[in-house]
Amino acid sequence: MSRRRFALRTFGCQMNVHDSEKVASLLLHDGWVAGDPETAELLVINTCSIREKAEHKLYSDLGLLRSWKQERPGRLVGVGGCVAQQEGDALLARFPQLDFVFGTHNLRLVPALVASAEAGLRRAETAERRELDRFDLPLRHPSLSTETPGRAFVTVMEGCDMFCSFCIVPHTRGREISRPALAIVQEVESLTADGVVEVTLLGQTVNAYGRQELRRGRAEAAGTLPFAALLRRLDAIPGLRRLRYTSPHPIFFDDDLMAAHAELRTLCPHVHLPVQSGSDAVLGRMRRRYTADDVRRLAERLRTARPDLVLTTDLIVGFPGETEREFAETLALVEDVGFVDSYSFKYSARPGTTAAEFVEAVSEAEAQSRLEALQALQRRLTLAYHRRRVGHHTEVLLEGPSRKGGQLQGRDPQHRIVHIDPDACPGAAPGRFVRVEIAEATPHSLLATPAVGGIPLRLPASRSGVAPSSR
Ligand code: 5AD
Ligand code: SF4
Repeated sequence: MSRRRFALRTFGCQMNVHDSEKVASLLLHDGWVAGDPETAELLVINTCSIREKAEHKLYSDLGLLRSWKQERPGRLVGVGGCVAQQEGDALLARFPQLDFVFGTHNLRLVPALVASAEAGLRRAETAERRELDRFDLPLRHPSLSTETPGRAFVTVMEGCDMFCSFCIVPHTRGREISRPALAIVQEVESLTADGVVEVTLLGQTVNAYGRQELRRGRAEAAGTLPFAALLRRLDAIPGLRRLRYTSPHPIFFDDDLMAAHAELRTLCPHVHLPVQSGSDAVLGRMRRRYTADDVRRLAERLRTARPDLVLTTDLIVGFPGETEREFAETLALVEDVGFVDSYSFKYSARPGTTAAEFVEAVSEAEAQSRLEALQALQRRLTLAYHRRRVGHHTEVLLEGPSRKGGQLQGRDPQHRIVHIDPDACPGAAPGRFVRVEIAEATPHSLLATPAVGGIPLRLPASRSGVAPSSR
């Protein structure tokens, strides 16, 4: 009998990408195999509600899925993620073609929800779970295919207690909860034993890891450490070559974290630091709890600790009441800090957030023109940074063929995309490191040639970084 196939469709942030990996692992452990939507019997959609556009995508998808289901009897559709968390049962009521719904705290229940759906029972599970067992998922399944061999995400904390006025996340992901350090260390050890060389620690406010436990005097009972101490502990794992974290909040950088950036062997010289705006008045209305000068000082401290460190950011334009002058302050901050890249968004009102009640909307046309001005500035800064890199040597972790084809693509420690001519690099494979010299700068990436010798650095077989071997 052929095995049952599932397909996953993921929207949104890296947290969602990683949640989808967890759901895939659970299904693989349950006897399913991965397929594409054309052949699958089960489709799981992991949704995002950070902006209105992302949420609407789900509704148009669900419309299309009616015919997908009718093509083959017995097909099942499940919806998870932030929209599922918010809407719960209402989704089942509104979309008869939907078989189950799971919230952001209930990934573990997916196999059970599938089993119920197969028995004809439609269920939604969206209760918030404070118990630490919400982190206890089976190890990554050996046949889980990740986009990037050699790299893995590891969750360290979930939820957010910051309640920025524009943001839906505290409503969809619940309160902050940190995972015991020992479980994190064990997961990283197990990943490195399977060939992973680069780990990205994930959390909504990742550098707030452990702070609520510490504040409540529960750090020992909860098994958490201060964030920088966790980084130090992970840095000592021999197979690990690169450690990253995303996304930090600007107010949770302490001296120890600066010291970690100066000292740790594996900690990469890149911090994605969402700042949202460069205007103190807007930052106040956003409830971000820092000023533009705090960001300037923070950038300075990070670069003092690690001079080759690159900062990237997230920015929102057209926040309610944002004046021309306030927007100009954002441009000034981006220029002063010299962000090497940024994701910029037009503000999108999210029902249930404080800012959704703010009435002084910026017009769509004005928001669009600010977005374009910001992106033009960013292109200039990105290219200037790329040009400064020409002639320098770096180490690239290879990912695979480039999107446009013909080239190998990888990332340097600063997380910049680097393209290499495969003919110049025989033996190069995804998950391997190669030392290169940057030869050319483009607006989106760096072009490189293998550095002297041109031989890809070979890792011992146990950490070759190709797809995980069987356990
Ligand atoms: N409108 C526009 N952008 C938003 N973001 C979060 N909420 C909103 C919103 N309501 C952006 C922020 C955040 C990124 C993940 O999405 O910049 O850092
Ligand atoms: Fe949203 Fe602010 Fe929390 Fe980030 S820190 S997830 S922007 S509420």
